[in-house]
Amino acid sequence: MIAKVDKGTCIGCGACPSVCPEVFQMEDDGLATAYVNPVPEAVEGTAQEAADGCPVEAIHIEK
Ligand code: F3S
Repeated sequence: MIAKVDKGTCIGCGACPSVCPEVFQMEDDGLATAYVNPVPEAVEGTAQEAADGCPVEAIHIEK
């Protein structure tokens, strides 16, 4: 599984790193990034939850 944050869409709400800190973090620009790819199998569920929970659907998951 590959996770990508569309920086043009992310509004920096900060939800994804709180749901899945193993994959997402906030950067100095105030926007999120997926810093671990491929997503480790053990956290695929929470990575998907983070994507589903993003209020602006900025996180894209490729299986
Ligand atoms: Fe941005 Fe969505 Fe995460 S707005 S900070 S990608 S939950």
